[in-house]
Amino acid sequence: MNEPRRPRVEHGALPAPTKEHLDDCRRCDLWEHATQGVPGEGPTGAKIMLVGEQPGNEEDLEGVPFVGPAGRMLRTLLDEAGIDAGRVYMTNAVKHFSFVLRGKRRIHKTPLQRQVSACHVWLESELVREKPAVIVALGATALAAIARRRISIADARASPITDAQGTPVVATYHPSAILRAPDHDARAALRASLVADLVRAAKMANG
Ligand code: URA
Repeated sequence: MNEPRRPRVEHGALPAPTKEHLDDCRRCDLWEHATQGVPGEGPTGAKIMLVGEQPGNEEDLEGVPFVGPAGRMLRTLLDEAGIDAGRVYMTNAVKHFSFVLRGKRRIHKTPLQRQVSACHVWLESELVREKPAVIVALGATALAAIARRRISIADARASPITDAQGTPVVATYHPSAILRAPDHDARAALRASLVADLVRAAKMANG
């Protein structure tokens, strides 16, 4: 039987979350059905950290964040905003794929609050280690994980927030919202908003 391994690291130790750390993590139950933990990725000294919700199906299989449909959309938007995707750090609030099975298909399931809380130590360690100049919260789950409370994207835009280290947070939509938008107008509006937020983040990052 595959015995759950004890977490090697307790909250507060703040190691760099390597793939091995995440594969050993038993802070919540998502490891049981996911293929692997998906650590953040990006160059040392990246000024912008993008935080999504959780790995999707393709990310789970490849072990790399933002390589599926939402990731491809995100990379297109970064390009439109004049940001080199190779110079930003990309990660997620939750490091294992949460899904439900429909037939053979694994369908994304929004992670539970307790799973987001359990995973927070890893996000915090990335924030402390990478020290970005600006954090972009992609969607409500990422925003709540960074702010450590439920706050709407509209409220975080109206009264900008920081993370626990005082790093400014740009709150915006998740790129998958564009993929799910019901019609052309909604898609175009979300897209313009997201690109404008990325441009704003780049300006903040460059002081
Ligand atoms: N892929 C990721 O890595 N994160 C998301 O939030 C969505 C897709």
